[in-house]
Amino acid sequence: MAEAKSAFKEGLEDIVATSSSICYIDGEKGILSYRGYNIHDLARHSTFEETAHLLWFGALPTRPELEDTRRQMAMYRGLPREVQDFLWGMPKEAVPMDVLRTAVSHLSLFDPDLKSSTREANVRKAFQLTGQVAAIVAAFHRLRQGMSYVEPRPDLSHAANFLYMLNGEMPSVMAQRAFDVALILHADHELNASTFAARVTAATLSDMHAAVVSGIGCLKGPLHGGANEAVMKMLLEIGTPDRAEAHLRNLLANKLKVSGFGHRVYTTEDPRATHLRRMSEDLSRQKGDLRWFDISRILETVMKKEKRLNANVDFYSASTYYMLGIPIDLYTPIFAVSRISGWTAHIIEQHANNRLIRPRAEYTGALPDQPYLPIEQR
Ligand SMILES: CC(C)(COP(=O)(O)OP(=O)(O)OC[C@H]1O[C@@H](n2cnc3c(N)ncnc32)[C@H](O)[C@@H]1OP(=O)(O)O)[C@@H](O)C(=O)NCCC(=O)NCCS
Repeated sequence: MAEAKSAFKEGLEDIVATSSSICYIDGEKGILSYRGYNIHDLARHSTFEETAHLLWFGALPTRPELEDTRRQMAMYRGLPREVQDFLWGMPKEAVPMDVLRTAVSHLSLFDPDLKSSTREANVRKAFQLTGQVAAIVAAFHRLRQGMSYVEPRPDLSHAANFLYMLNGEMPSVMAQRAFDVALILHADHELNASTFAARVTAATLSDMHAAVVSGIGCLKGPLHGGANEAVMKMLLEIGTPDRAEAHLRNLLANKLKVSGFGHRVYTTEDPRATHLRRMSEDLSRQKGDLRWFDISRILETVMKKEKRLNANVDFYSASTYYMLGIPIDLYTPIFAVSRISGWTAHIIEQHANNRLIRPRAEYTGALPDQPYLPIEQR
């Protein structure tokens, strides 16, 4: 009955669904690069601002260009009074990821260029959304605890300012750099589920805010960005290193997925995990608390031996954020604080060379010639 030969692949595995010049992944060799720059070089030498510039403009910035990017991103860090009031109105027990999704949607109502998707309008929105997403996550966390909103500091880096707006105090130099590197590592990842969702929305010629809302909704799931929260909950449930192996074996015996392991594209180590493992260890040593890192190492060793699965980006980001004192339900929103740079780069690229994304389904339902029976005869 199929009208065309079906090339259906479950989960669209290995299907090339777009062309893009933003991000390159070689899953067999463990290579990840943004615009041709290896993630290891960016993690060692770059900053989030420079990386976002690279994603949006396609080249590393000169000094004046970087200054301009910093200035523009910082310009949008402050939340207008109506957005603060909106966050105040959210239930205090709401899931921060849901608040972020709702707040971005709310923000769109005030965007002067909502109906424009020119490159110029989209680039401005990218700066604005990057500044605002970080501010929303930090501000909601304070407001839900009955604490006051912290005004942003334009003199701080994006990473330092986020931690400052979250905690109301200056983060240590080590915390600033660790968070900056975490933002670089999460900034983009080719056609991951949330970026694909954002591009599908943009491809209908819907606006950038709508596409970002799609991305946030998609990132929330535990098979995607939600995995970092699930990892930390698992580490806390395990509690001590001596319980780690038995806990894991029990999960595997029950055929349960272990959060933070496995990847659709990488068959080697996820290159981002290499940095996050080191950051987790460094921060744990600095704090004199190696418990979560030690549990993680045991889980990683056993998973490798038993399932030949490697840790992914979410595995060591969990203990890294825990050591930074970040509340667990902010881990996935923090993923969005970084990935907003990649989403917006992809939306700009989609709008610049657009064609509606509309795949087909392999039909598995009833034959399409069922006789329609009047209701009294069914
Ligand atoms: C990332 C993920 C969704 C990729 O999914 P996928 O490409 O569809 O792979 P599958 O779920 O089909 O898994 C393939 C095989 O590996 C196993 N597997 C994959 N990830 C696993 C995990 N985290 N724990 C245990 N087994 C896992 C599956 O059970 C399956 O085994 P089987 O063939 O014997 O049934 C998957 O690895 C996963 O669920 N990981 C945990 C969630 C997570 O960390 N997500 C963040 C990704 S960055």
